[in-house]
Formats: sequence, structure tokens, C-alpha cells
Amino acid sequence: MRKIAVVNMKGGVGKTTTAIHVAAGLAGRGARVLLIDMDPQGNVGHALAVHPPVTIADVLTGAVETQDAIVPNVRPGLDLIASTPAAFALEARLSGATQRETILARRLRGVNSYDAIVVDSSPAMNLLTYNALLLAHEVILPVGMDLMAIIGARQTLNGIAELRELWPERSLDILAVLPTFVNATTHATRAALDAMDRDGEIRGRLFRPGIRQCIDLNYATARRQTIWEYAPRSRAAEDYTQFVDYVENPAGERQSGKKEANAGV
Ligand SMILES: Nc1ncnc2c1ncn2[C@@H]1O[C@H](COP(=O)(O)OP(=O)(O)OP(=O)(O)O)[C@@H](O)[C@H]1O
Ligand SMILES: [Mg+2]
Repeated sequence: MRKIAVVNMKGGVGKTTTAIHVAAGLAGRGARVLLIDMDPQGNVGHALAVHPPVTIADVLTGAVETQDAIVPNVRPGLDLIASTPAAFALEARLSGATQRETILARRLRGVNSYDAIVVDSSPAMNLLTYNALLLAHEVILPVGMDLMAIIGARQTLNGIAELRELWPERSLDILAVLPTFVNATTHATRAALDAMDRDGEIRGRLFRPGIRQCIDLNYATARRQTIWEYAPRSRAAEDYTQFVDYVENPAGERQSGKKEANAGV
């Protein structure tokens, strides 16, 4: 079972959009997928129009069995554990718990019936994000096309390096650094991609060309639809399809990603 966390300390870089489309994309290809929202903003539930009474906060406090928080088939093959602002209080509530960084991993131990778990996280390196990272074995790092997003990505990678030092026995790979809001005609995008190319760790994991800026993603969210449901011919649908191809088969797609990068796309 693959376990993928979508993280970046910087807000508004496309984490939730990416988590939803990776999860729904894999499910659309026949995988059984569990999407978990670890962000108290609860944006995944809003985006998919799912508002269950039992959420991740109840799972982490042990108030319910994990199975009872899973909303089945929010899309074909896609199940969800949603979040709400109730999770804001968890940080304080769990601060005294033993092994508090691995509560999510332990609560999910009996959940084995999926091909993949995808976790969305909040724009912070807090206890909930650590829990997401200590469940996951793979990380997707969406990065918007501005300096602050790149700084956020670097800080996030530093945080992941610290986790690796604290839990050296755990494997946690950077599956992709994913450029988002890409607009190749702007100086901001070119400068951002250049800055990412200068960071050795980011460069080695950069998925080019990434996800182009596309207003249809906003409209899709407003309609509570995925981009493939709302605008299957849009740029964002094309780009997320290409990215899910890569996530499904990282070894195969990295080759062509390199080719595009070399071609200067
Ligand atoms: N490639 C894109 N082009 C245009 N708009 C986008 C793109 N990706 C995401 N958006 C929009 O930008 C907004 C922020 O995206 P999203 O919620 O995915 O970011 P986030 O990183 O999860 O934010 P937060 O840090 O607050 O959780 C949303 O309205 C989303 O629809
Ligand atoms: Mg989000």
C-alpha cells in the first residue's frame, strides 16, 4: 500500500488541489484510494461536498474506530476521512500524548484494504503535519511560482530532513516537487523555476512542466467537482493527468519529465 503526503509549509500553493487530484486520479484508474484531510481548514470536504459528522479529530483522539470515520465512495474507488476546525484544538490536546507524532500511523494500522493513502496537510510544520509525514513513505511538494513558496518548500525539505534524522529507520522519499500556477509567459514563473533548478535537492525531484495556472480549477472547486468532471479538456485536466501518470509509475515517467526539462519547456 502506497502512502503519499502532500505538504508545503507555504499556504495556497495547491496542496489540497493536488491531493484531491492525485487521489481521484489514481481511483479513476482502478486503484482503491483513501484520502485523509489532516488540515483543520477542512478544505477537502468542502471541495468534494462531503461533510460527515465524524472526522479526523475523532480518529486521532481515539473517540471512534478509524473505520467509522471513513466516508466510502465519495467518488468511485475513493474513500475519505474529512477534517473540520475541530482539529485546530488537537495540537494542544495531543501535546501530552506519548509518541504523539505517530498517532495517525498507529490509528491506521488495521486499515489495509487500499492500494494508496493520500494525505492533505495544513500550511505548517505542526503536529498534524508530522503525523502525516510519519504515516507516509512518499511526499509530494507543490510549489507555487513565487519566492515565498520556494522558501516554504526549502523549509519543508529541511523539516523532512530533521524527521529523517529522528526516525532513521523510516523510509520517506520525495516523490515530486510539483510546480503549480505555472505560467511560462511570466517572469515570475521563469525566475521561480530557475531558483528551483539552483537547489540541488529540488532539481533532482522537479516534475516539469508541472501544473499550469488554470482558472478552471477555481470553478471546479466552486462546483464541488474535480477538474476531470468539470472541464476534462482544460489545461489543468491535462496537466494533472500527466502528473497522475507519473505518480502511478514514477520510474517510467521521470524519463520523459527529464526530456521536457532538457528541451527547456
Ligand atoms: N494551477 C492552478 N491554477 C489556478 N488556480 C489554482 C491552481 N491550483 C490551485 N488553484 C486554486 O488556488 C487556490 C488554493 O489552492 P489549494 O487550496 O489547493 O492550496 P493549498 O496549498 O491547499 O492551500 P492551504 O495552504 O490554505 O491549504 C484554490 O482556490 C485552488 O482552486
Ligand atoms: Mg489546503
